Amino acid sequence: MTVVKVALLGFGTVGQGVFEILENNKETLQKQIGAEVHMTSILVKNIDKQRNLPSSLRVTDRMEEVLQQNPDVIFEAINGEEPARKYINRALEKGVSIITANKEMFAKHGRSLLNTAEKNGTAIGYEATTASGTPIIGMISKLLQMNRITKVEAILNGTSNYILTHIQEEGMSFENALSLAQSKGFAEVDPSSDLKGIDAFYKLMILSELIYGTQPKWDQVSCDGISHLTSNDFKTAGRSGKRIKLLASLEQHNNQIIARVEPKALDSNHPLFSVNGVDNAIMVDGEFTGPLTLRGPGAGKLPTASAMVEDFITAMQTRPLLQTISI
Ligand SMILES: NC(=O)c1ccc[n+]([C@@H]2O[C@H](COP(=O)([O-])OP(=O)(O)OC[C@H]3O[C@@H](n4cnc5c(N)ncnc54)[C@H](OP(=O)(O)O)[C@@H]3O)[C@@H](O)[C@H]2O)c1
Repeated sequence: MTVVKVALLGFGTVGQGVFEILENNKETLQKQIGAEVHMTSILVKNIDKQRNLPSSLRVTDRMEEVLQQNPDVIFEAINGEEPARKYINRALEKGVSIITANKEMFAKHGRSLLNTAEKNGTAIGYEATTASGTPIIGMISKLLQMNRITKVEAILNGTSNYILTHIQEEGMSFENALSLAQSKGFAEVDPSSDLKGIDAFYKLMILSELIYGTQPKWDQVSCDGISHLTSNDFKTAGRSGKRIKLLASLEQHNNQIIARVEPKALDSNHPLFSVNGVDNAIMVDGEFTGPLTLRGPGAGKLPTASAMVEDFITAMQTRPLLQTISI
């Protein structure tokens, strides 16, 4: 039997989604990659937490133990820059391919990790870092084979979009809209990274690296969120038939990348005007294609996990790392 050994870093919202999709779709996966997927271990922070997992599966808080199992591919779904970067780097140097959802880590270290992957003949999939289950990394990568991308405008933060939608469509106060987002699990207990535009900024930097092969200097990017908006701002926009959206934009002029995250009043003929709720969307202007818009889920357990498993399938189809074992 041919198998591919995988490990999972993180067993929170996204990690559980990956586990669920791999467990419940074995036949589909086998057809797609021509091998059985065996999960060897799961890395978590707190090994004493109760988790509903088969006892045969190793749950550990030590990365060495994960690597000792010699996985072919690691799914990374933990939070923040470190120790995620260190763990991924170590795995790549051992020849393990990586699929990540971690936008902060990838915005800061994506380029260097991609270089390490190339040096070691491994792959990194990062679709899930940007707009979760909406395949904008895949769409842009394909367009870039032939098109120069002249402009990007996007809604990349579902929490802000949800709050803005409820303020503008239902007349809710900012505080009530935020509480509703939190009660539905769309906003973190500490929502500051979403509300200050930082989450959208990380995703925009990942797009800049993909599209232009580099990022602007971070201190030269204007990054503004939605928390300072007043009821007057919404009234003024509404009077002229506009809607305020947290817009992330990217353009290149004379070899200079201009990137911004800012609340902007869009009129009704803008492609992102009607993107409501927790959805994300992106408008990409290709040299030959002209403007294209893609819209879909910007967060959530299964959409994000789906993007990771799709990346895994692509990695397996393009760089088979299969082992044949006898059972
Ligand atoms: N949630 C989404 O919709 C979404 C969408 C796109 C991308 N992402 C990204 O996906 C990643 C995971 O998000 P999430 O929502 O699944 O987070 P989460 O629910 O908070 O889960 C995080 C998991 O990582 C583990 N972890 C945290 N720090 C660790 C460390 N130092 N060592 C080992 N394990 C550690 C935690 O272990 P314990 O269980 O022991 O606490 C937990 O299992 C983040 O980078 C996030 O930005 C999330």
